Amino acid sequence: MLFLSIETSCDETSAAVIESGRIIHANIVASQEAIHAKYGGVFPEVASRRHIEVIYSIVDEAMTQAAVDYANLDGIAVTKGPGLVGSLLVGVNVAKGLALASHKPLLGINHIEGHIYAQWLAEDRDEIEFPILILVVSGGHTELYLMSDHGKYTHLGGTMDDAAGEAFDKVGRLLDLPYPGGPAIDKAAKQGDAGRFRFPRAVLDTGYDFSFSGLKTAVLRETERIKRQQGDDEPLPVADLAAGFQTAVVDALLIKTARAAEAYRVKGIHITGGVSANSELRQVAKERFDVPVRTPPLRLCTDNAAMIGAAAYFRWQNGQRGDLEIDVSPNLPIT
Ligand code: KG4
Ligand code: ZN
Repeated sequence: MLFLSIETSCDETSAAVIESGRIIHANIVASQEAIHAKYGGVFPEVASRRHIEVIYSIVDEAMTQAAVDYANLDGIAVTKGPGLVGSLLVGVNVAKGLALASHKPLLGINHIEGHIYAQWLAEDRDEIEFPILILVVSGGHTELYLMSDHGKYTHLGGTMDDAAGEAFDKVGRLLDLPYPGGPAIDKAAKQGDAGRFRFPRAVLDTGYDFSFSGLKTAVLRETERIKRQQGDDEPLPVADLAAGFQTAVVDALLIKTARAAEAYRVKGIHITGGVSANSELRQVAKERFDVPVRTPPLRLCTDNAAMIGAAAYFRWQNGQRGDLEIDVSPNLPIT
């Protein structure tokens, strides 16, 4: 089964050619990071305009690199949500046009499910056993799911306020680090002392929900206190603040993950989404649990079309068929 897949839900324009949900023949990702950096976040209108400018050449590049013709494809897959409506529309409309012209079935795919299936593109996919606990941590989401089989999810909890990636990006701005804050904090924290500032873990007593706005406010208060004490001209202890913040996020995420892993007796834990690229999260998670902890290869953690092509294959195996009438769904839940 050969799928062309397209992802444009946020600020990456990506196209991939994926065989049987596991072999990547091409995965082209054009990031708009540099464009949005000057706004300190993703500017939706700018994002959709940029998708329009580059999408056809990205699709061509993927098809050329994979050396396949539209006639060789079994289907076309595209992210239909969740995400920014204008960005999603670009991908979905281009995919519809390509499906119509090539007479191939069109599959609308959930972006979160794409992040989950990034793990099936990794080397150790044959060792995966259900049930699995899935922690999705990205710029828009912090969710815990119990995955009992392919395509079968129970939502256990999510963030009450900011997503983990959003907290990284906001704290990055507070510390005057470049956008996006996640990778910048990860890098700065490596030089820092995580014990110097102890930030709250905001572990809600019951259930599996998360909250990061209190932590973000605590970092803000601490920076204000330091500035009052030392004056505005002295540089902030960025590395120590970044390390303290990052350790608090990792701890808060893993406390709930551990609680759910035990309650549901899972056979593995998968951490996926942009924040799963975080070096401390990857390392600490792998040390903390008895069951295998898996994270996708780094380049498949952040948004890419390969993961959408992987999810499409398993959806096809579960009976989903082509539909040219699909529409974008900015708040699409996983079902
Ligand atoms: O999955 P993704 O590419 O897009 C969404 O679906 O949201 O995730 C982007 C998020 C951003 O908030 C970014 O700061 C964060 O992932 N991120 C990281 C790291 N790399 C990316 N956060 C922490 N540490 C990283 N190394
Ligand atoms: Zn994403």
